[in-house]
Amino acid sequence: MFYLRKKRDFYSKKAKQEGFRSRAAYKLLQIDKKFNIFRENQTIIDLCGAPGGFSQIARDQTQSKAAIFLVDMARVRPIPKITEIIQGDITQLDTIHLLQESIIKHGVEHREHIVLADCSPNVSGHWVTDHARQIWLAEVSLGISNYFLASAFLTKVFHGEYFKDLIAKIKEYYEVVKVHKPPTSRSSSAETYIVATKGKGRGKVKYNIAFLLLADEG
Ligand SMILES: C[S@@+](CC[C@H](N)C(=O)[O-])C[C@H]1O[C@@H](n2cnc3c(N)ncnc32)[C@H](O)[C@@H]1O
Repeated sequence: MFYLRKKRDFYSKKAKQEGFRSRAAYKLLQIDKKFNIFRENQTIIDLCGAPGGFSQIARDQTQSKAAIFLVDMARVRPIPKITEIIQGDITQLDTIHLLQESIIKHGVEHREHIVLADCSPNVSGHWVTDHARQIWLAEVSLGISNYFLASAFLTKVFHGEYFKDLIAKIKEYYEVVKVHKPPTSRSSSAETYIVATKGKGRGKVKYNIAFLLLADEG
């Protein structure tokens, strides 16, 4: 326990010193070092991106040549060289329309898209509920990823009974699906990441319908 807290403090301090908005930045850096997901000229959608650590890493790993759109229901202070920050709930269609309009406005709709989703619900402390809510956010993110025909999709996921179902769904849309726990992530936590690549390009219709239904239920 003591060791884990120390590790957490270490990365929080490091983030502050190095100008990153959150220690989550180091998780994404470690994931990119392993899976090499970023390319210059991508359109990167950073769902649930506040306070902005993931976007900062995406920017740095692409030498500021990618278009980066951060979406979160929390307000985010401007981040240098991030294309646009959209405040909104990702489960609401209005937010997705705003995102789409913004991508078109910046003229980057024809670029390769990738979607990052580091979503955590407001935790209630009731594990089953928190797990179900988090999986739901990951599923909505998958729907968004599929809607934009993203070639790669990265999502956080809390381990639990719905984990396998989520993996199966992601496999419908991506050929390569890997489960990875970055070293920065506390080993005791239920959090892990799924990195899905080689999108099958089956978007814009099928999963979007499921996504609308899911969003309406919310
Ligand atoms: C762990 S934080 C993300 C950290 C971020 N990746 C970073 O690098 O700084 C989880 C975020 O999920 C956001 N979130 C949770 N539910 C959401 C929803 N329905 N729509 C938009 N954002 C949501 C929270 O506001 C919170 O900022």
